[in-house]
Amino acid sequence: MLKRLLLGGLAVAALGAVGFAIYAYKPALAPVTADQHAGFDPALVEQGRILASAGYCATCHTAEGGAPYAGNYPIATGFGTIYSTNLTPDMETGIGTWSQAAFRRAMHEGVDREGNHLFPAFPYNHFTKMTDADIDAVYAYIMTDVAPVKTEQKANELPFPLNLRVLQAGWKLLFVNFGAYQPDPAHSEAWNRGAYLAEGVTHCGACHTPRNALGAEDSSQVFAGAEIDRWIAPALTAANPSAVPWTAPEFKSYLAKGVTTYHGVAAGPMGPVVHDGVRALPEADLDALAVYLADIVGATPDDPAQSPVVLASLHNNLPDPQYRRAEGERLYATACAACHYNAAQIAQGRPDLGINSATNLDTPNNLIHVMLDGVSAPEGIAGVVMPGFRHALNDSEITAIAAYLRDKRAGKPAWPDLAATVADLRANGPVAH
Ligand code: HEC
Ligand code: HEC
Ligand code: HEC
Repeated sequence: MLKRLLLGGLAVAALGAVGFAIYAYKPALAPVTADQHAGFDPALVEQGRILASAGYCATCHTAEGGAPYAGNYPIATGFGTIYSTNLTPDMETGIGTWSQAAFRRAMHEGVDREGNHLFPAFPYNHFTKMTDADIDAVYAYIMTDVAPVKTEQKANELPFPLNLRVLQAGWKLLFVNFGAYQPDPAHSEAWNRGAYLAEGVTHCGACHTPRNALGAEDSSQVFAGAEIDRWIAPALTAANPSAVPWTAPEFKSYLAKGVTTYHGVAAGPMGPVVHDGVRALPEADLDALAVYLADIVGATPDDPAQSPVVLASLHNNLPDPQYRRAEGERLYATACAACHYNAAQIAQGRPDLGINSATNLDTPNNLIHVMLDGVSAPEGIAGVVMPGFRHALNDSEITAIAAYLRDKRAGKPAWPDLAATVADLRANGPVAH
């Protein structure tokens, strides 16, 4: 009896292996010549340019100081470093020999022209939701407007067996829901457009959704907030900890300009998402994204200007000079208050730091990063930049200012391990690219 069970088990396993092999096998697609991807309609090329921006393809496919789209940009994953590939139409080292069908297959299924499975550092789990028409537009743009560049592809730093591409087929089976976005009839057209963009080409979940032990986005915690390059990508759901509730206009301002009145700016890894990315989208698409985000965060139509926290912060002026007892308060007045002087700056879009997201999150990382390394010009308000204080303030001074802002301005419980986090982030930085 036992023997028969064992044999049966073996047979099932063998069938499973055969099934897996059939599933994992992807044929090579025939190469094309350069004139087979020429002569696209300029309107299609332009649509592709906008979508390629919205998907910030260039951010991941351009190495620091390298030619646009030429690849070799390092992406640190929990398993090792993966280098992006050359996406220029170079015939030897780029995707010049790729047909439109091969490009569609890569975006929809995460498979290269030769039939190899691609690693999910390439967010095909989101691009799979894009329509054929949108993918074809991106293809037309790359083949027409991106200059071909020859490169030498860097080898990924992945340990055996994780470097085996065929294993990616199993990963896909477990974690990826393939197929184009399906509109939800319970919601408006704008909501569905926003969801299509957020879940597809702009792949917000790649950073805002926590990942499981195998590096896959946890589908039971979509947009629940996650850590990326040692920054916190806050929850975009009802769990968002902002002092002032988000509204659709605040979301739109954040995505269109990277600046909001009541939540701060898009800094760190969120900077390129806005500035190289989604701000290229037409007005109606930004509105649609805002409608969708407002719904998932559970926004109310209330005017943030009337929010009790905002009204209270108007009285949060600079500490009385006679009363600067605590070190954090004194340092804040010296180093920060020249620019962040008081709550009345709401009118200038630089409100009290007590209502900034960085001081309200459960983890101090974003505040510490901003204090150490500042806010660069494209991330902030035009004309004003925030210098980094890496060399001006030592760890205990940064810690004291952060503790002051958290306690006296945000009015939230102290961050545990604050001093250790300051030391750690200064020494080890955000993962450098
Ligand atoms: C988060 C980083 C990231 C973003 C954003 C990104 N890619 Fe990639 N992409 C990668 C990585 C990494 C690879 C290599 C994967 C591998 O080697 O398995 C890759 C591979 C590819 C490939 C396969 C190329 C080949 O030669 O095998 C295509 C096609 C591609 N990306 C297209 C795009 C397009 C189009 C966009 C924008 C809509 C985009 N990618 C955005 C990281 C990214
Ligand atoms: C590459 C990683 C990454 C991607 C992709 C990304 N985000 Fe972010 N996001 C972050 C980080 C990190 C922050 C914190 C930035 C800061 O505090 O300055 C952030 C902050 C935000 C905030 C502010 C939240 C708050 O409460 O302050 C919003 C809103 C947001 N992102 C929306 C989006 C949307 C919408 C998308 C897709 C279009 C997106 N993000 C894609 C990393 C990312
Ligand atoms: C020279 C002017 C200047 C100084 C000094 C300065 N900041 Fe800033 N800070 C800015 C600008 C500009 C921004 C970008 C957003 C804006 O315009 O409000 C900013 C943004 C911030 C943010 C929001 C970041 C985000 O992701 O939303 C925080 C937090 C912050 N500053 C903290 C501080 C602290 C703490 C100090 C003192 C150690 C300080 N700043 C000193 C100009 C300054």
